[in-house]
Amino acid sequence: MADLNELSEKLSGIRQEIKDELLKIENSKHAFEYRKSIMDSKTGKIGSLMREMGKVPNEMKAEYGKKVNEIRTWAQEQFDELETKLKEAEMNLRYESEKIDVTMPAKMQKRGNLHPNTMVRNQLVDIFGSMGFEIYEGKEIETDYYNFTALNIPQDHPARDMQDTFYLSPEFLLRTQTSSGQVHVMEEQEPPIKIISPGKVFRSDDDATHSPMFSQMEGLVVDKGITLCDLQGLLNAFVERIFGESTKTRFRPSYFPFTEPSVEVDVSCFQCKGCGCKLCKGTGWIEVLGAGVVNKKVLDGCGIDSNVYSGIAFGIGIDRIAMLKYGINNIKLLFESDLRVLDQIDD
Ligand code: DAH
Repeated sequence: MADLNELSEKLSGIRQEIKDELLKIENSKHAFEYRKSIMDSKTGKIGSLMREMGKVPNEMKAEYGKKVNEIRTWAQEQFDELETKLKEAEMNLRYESEKIDVTMPAKMQKRGNLHPNTMVRNQLVDIFGSMGFEIYEGKEIETDYYNFTALNIPQDHPARDMQDTFYLSPEFLLRTQTSSGQVHVMEEQEPPIKIISPGKVFRSDDDATHSPMFSQMEGLVVDKGITLCDLQGLLNAFVERIFGESTKTRFRPSYFPFTEPSVEVDVSCFQCKGCGCKLCKGTGWIEVLGAGVVNKKVLDGCGIDSNVYSGIAFGIGIDRIAMLKYGINNIKLLFESDLRVLDQIDD
């Protein structure tokens, strides 16, 4: 180092260069790199000046050190200032790009609901469950024996024609009624028996109120001294809970081979309260299920002594109840999964 004047000149050159360069810097990465090129103690333009102290004559060392320190402090300030400014600008840019409008209305999550058939089945299970009924899961593929013969519908019995059956083989078929479950339960369990058996049934039938696959729920009570009065009491309690407290039942004589006597059960129209409307076709009554006192032949065939025990049974169409309850006029709507329809039905 020739003399201090030369150093001063060099330093003002560096100072000017830094000033010029800082004006061009646009981001903190660039600022960081430039700072390093100036301040690094080994390679930096200013940082390395201190290492040259050794070459400076002793009498100039103090002044040299002072000048280098001065420019180093100045440069540090310049960098700090610029970096603060750049960081702030960058943060603002980020805030701007990540800005959210908290006043925007939220996207509402659509709440799903259960299928009408499922809702009705759950209600039936709840109602009968609370009366002490247990659930029996029957089989969808049955033998001719359980679906017909054991229910007092022998081969060639005209009642077989009432239910158009899908036969899988001469012996096996898709059950046409959940009543087939009755036979299994009576064969497997000793009375007292109190079961419901909900499930799918199949018939070759297809129009606005019939579908080849639909759902039923069978009910069976077997014990000593069970009578038609028990059936009436049970079904009264059931319809009040499913259709509303003011709903009444009416028993009409009917015929089912597996019950004797057999009845068809109507409920007072829960829409017009019995005055007559479209739903009840002006009669004030709606047919909802078949029922009766279990035929002695069926009990005996299942190994239950009909001189000791008696039983009552009923079969409810789940789809039919869903259609009535929710005002669905075509059974196909229950199978099409059209959300415009299903969304309107919620309990
Ligand atoms: N299984 C009959 C049907 O599908 C319904 C039925 C009627 C069931 C009377 C019963 C009953 O248990 O007692 O049409």
